[in-house]
Amino acid sequence: MSTSSTSAQSQHAVRMVLLGAPASGKGTQGATLASSLGIPKISTGDMLRAARDAGTELGQLADGIMAAGKLVPDDLVIRLVDGRLSEPDTQSGFILDGFPRTVPQAEALDRLLEGRSVKLNAALHIDLPRELLMERATLRRTDVRTGQIYHLKYNPPPDSAELVHRDDDREETVRKRLDAYDTMTAALVPYYKGKKILRHVDGVGTPREVGERIRRAIDELVSAGASSGASASRGAAARGGADGD
Ligand code: AP5
Repeated sequence: MSTSSTSAQSQHAVRMVLLGAPASGKGTQGATLASSLGIPKISTGDMLRAARDAGTELGQLADGIMAAGKLVPDDLVIRLVDGRLSEPDTQSGFILDGFPRTVPQAEALDRLLEGRSVKLNAALHIDLPRELLMERATLRRTDVRTGQIYHLKYNPPPDSAELVHRDDDREETVRKRLDAYDTMTAALVPYYKGKKILRHVDGVGTPREVGERIRRAIDELVSAGASSGASASRGAAARGGADGD
């Protein structure tokens, strides 16, 4: 493949973060988007739960922290994400779900991507009122065999599903997770606004309606990023091939 077509492909690759409070719909939307775009969804929550279930040292450390509704230390999740971003399937793009969750994580992510000569081009923030977040979390169930996420009221599981109720989805723990979101993670909204890649998406509505809003926002952001990249390259070429963006 020529260098110019590789770079055009890279400009249109979706490299995004999904932001939003616990149970705002990041996992549901991320899974649909990942399968329609053919890129991986990377969920630090799923990775930490897998480590816990496998009984690794990291999983044992994370277990108590997650059950208490607190955040796992930055350096541990940054290492997890660094490893995952080194896998070849992320070269065509990726969706980060639940990472970053603090400003130091966001800064570390920028550095990890800079080391790979790519940038994020979209940060989508799913907005939902607190009372709906509570209902969505406490009635969530997951099929252990398929990983499919269900909701007892809005998306009931089939009889064949083998359901688990996440430990951290009990009402008291959800409250703590929502508080952790307000104190630590909400700061990412201004962080990505400053980088001009943030869009707010109304999370009220059916998964399909929310998904359509997200797709429109991504299309706008990715094409805006690609055209500013293209004009930066044209500018660099006009300046005699000096470095672009
Ligand atoms: P994580 O697994 O990332 O949890 P979260 O961010 O709290 O998000 P959730 O998985 O709870 O919700 P979601 O937004 O994905 O919603 P979903 O689509 O399932 O993290 C868990 C823990 O791990 C953290 O508390 C922390 O301890 C640790 N951790 C993870 N990442 C970390 C990091 N980077 N740094 C530090 N610690 C970290 O939807 C929820 C429910 O609503 C489902 O039942 C679904 O079916 C339903 N639903 C979804 N959309 C709709 C809709 N439009 N209408 C009706 N129902 C809907």
